[in-house]
Amino acid sequence: MATPTCVLYFCVLVFFVSPSLSASNEFPKTGYISLPINIDPTTHQHFTSIGIGTPRHNMNLAIDISGSYLWYDCGGNYNSSSYNPVLWDSPQCPGPEPFQSNCDAGFPFKPGCTNNTCNVALDNPFADFGFGGDLGHDFLFTPQIKLPQTFFSVCSESSRFPQLPILVGLPKGTKGSLGLARQSPFTLQSQISSSFNNVPPKFTLCLP
Ligand SMILES: *[C@@H]1O[C@H](CO)[C@@H](O)[C@H](O)[C@H]1NC(C)=O
Ligand SMILES: *[C@@H]1O[C@H](CO)[C@@H](O)[C@H](O)[C@H]1NC(C)=O
Repeated sequence: MATPTCVLYFCVLVFFVSPSLSASNEFPKTGYISLPINIDPTTHQHFTSIGIGTPRHNMNLAIDISGSYLWYDCGGNYNSSSYNPVLWDSPQCPGPEPFQSNCDAGFPFKPGCTNNTCNVALDNPFADFGFGGDLGHDFLFTPQIKLPQTFFSVCSESSRFPQLPILVGLPKGTKGSLGLARQSPFTLQSQISSSFNNVPPKFTLCLP
């Protein structure tokens, strides 16, 4: 009698990288990085999971194919000893008019609360107000690899601005959004491409 088998099919977000072009031994031999994709039954939005910072903070992020950044809420007790803010007058701070963010007196310094920091405009399509976050560098963890500490992401410290519910409309439990816009140098695919020998910034979405 045949043994019954159970098969799990993982739906993945795959960033293709040719193994021959990989610059680092750390890069998976399979030639790609994958992230899990889940669907939220209430909002029907897709989300994925990543890790960021030191200690590693695991979080779910809504997938936004028009978003320019990976942004997350670094409010509350969030902190990371490997976080480095990007200064507002550095060439890495995107124009045309770099906006300077300072930490208000009385709030402890941590990601989202540093001085002379590059503040960028963020987008949550479900929020009917504009908000911003601080551009910084930190480690990013995917299931297969840890990306260098120079990985750009944006944190928005919601606890400093409680009147702005920045996560409004996103799937329950998500902490921000993974932007995959084509033109942005700050997306995950662009940064994987520049970290690993300028391989093409291509990805495939397999949606559940
Ligand atoms: C966050 O971590 C940094 C670096 O370890 C530390 O200097 C800072 O005091 C911490 N801030 C808070 C609010 O814990
Ligand atoms: C950061 O800037 C704020 C506002 O300008 C100021 O009150 C605070 O003292 C500064 N903190 C540090 C550590 O420089």
